[in-house]
Amino acid sequence: MSEPVQTPQTFTPRIFSGIQPSGGLTLGNYLGALKRFVEKQDEGIETIYCLVDMHAITVWQSPADLRRQTREGAAAFIAAGIDPKRSILFNQSQVSAHAELGWIFNCVARMGWMGRMTQWKDKAGKNSENASLGLFAYPALMAADILAYKATHVPVGEDQKQHLELTRDIAAKFNNDYGVNFFPITEPVIEGAATRVMSLRDGSKKMSKSDPSDQSRINLTDDADAIAAKIRKAKTDPEPLPDTLDGLKDRPEARNLVNIYAALAGLTPAAVVAEHAGAQFGTFKPRLAELAVSVLSPITTEMNRLMADPAEIDRILGEGSARAEAIARPILDEVYDIVGMVRSRQV
Ligand code: AMP
Ligand code: TRP
Repeated sequence: MSEPVQTPQTFTPRIFSGIQPSGGLTLGNYLGALKRFVEKQDEGIETIYCLVDMHAITVWQSPADLRRQTREGAAAFIAAGIDPKRSILFNQSQVSAHAELGWIFNCVARMGWMGRMTQWKDKAGKNSENASLGLFAYPALMAADILAYKATHVPVGEDQKQHLELTRDIAAKFNNDYGVNFFPITEPVIEGAATRVMSLRDGSKKMSKSDPSDQSRINLTDDADAIAAKIRKAKTDPEPLPDTLDGLKDRPEARNLVNIYAALAGLTPAAVVAEHAGAQFGTFKPRLAELAVSVLSPITTEMNRLMADPAEIDRILGEGSARAEAIARPILDEVYDIVGMVRSRQV
């Protein structure tokens, strides 16, 4: 693949990120994504956040679930601190530029690039003949989400790193093929103590809304009792907490709980280990549960309040979509001109 050349001076900083409404959101989504989306908004950079409903249907979603999950996702963004006036908050399918640019990128990206995506390999598994074509093409649509806004920075969890590298490759190939410096070479923003929150049952698997075991994750809709019970039952080892981070090297489950604690408390993992050195999990887990409940329960309460008025959520998404469209449409028109499409229709 070609080496992208960064020319940041030509592009205004702009942040884009997305979350799939393919299930309820988890603590992993909150710490790895939502919480950081709010921090970026509060840094005063232009922020665009999207519920990527067209990505969600790459695997089957019942229409009623998809609608509810999209609204619930929007409620989670707002409850976590996204202000729909300061950020643009919308759902992907209301802005057709995503699908249109996605098609162009299907013609830029190479089959070989897509076939190497670990998410494709994981999700399609041995049954790839039966996976949707959309699941295979998914990273080209993701590149379109980002580049339809010429976004320069994308905050995501660690699992999305490979997709962002592909986005850079697509931007570089497009620029190169057409001899332009049109798309920025986007920077991933993967930072903090919880860029990969692991399953509570298996420290080698990421916490995921699609894990069949509900015990493996904390959902943003879980109540205080459920959160405490899941943390109490989380898999650990019999050793007490060490006094340095080095002591967590071969203890993935213990390290995960320390990282979660750190991210929730706004501390470094080293500070958490120093504070709890020698503690047994019997002591550490209740403290972690208390901390998790204190951070998550105001969010859950606010989400429930917002979900009682779905019309207001739809109104916010509609308004965000119009603002998103106003940015993306002129960019897409330029793309069509660059590619050589005749545009003669009177609007
Ligand atoms: P998804 O739920 O796959 O649409 O992911 C939405 C965002 O949450 C992406 O930025 C992911 O990287 C992030 N994310 C999802 N699961 C985790 C996790 N277990 N740890 C950290 N970040 C996560
Ligand atoms: N692929 C991302 C995920 O599964 C979701 C996503 C779609 C996204 N489009 C995006 C993330 C654009 C960042 C930017 O988590």
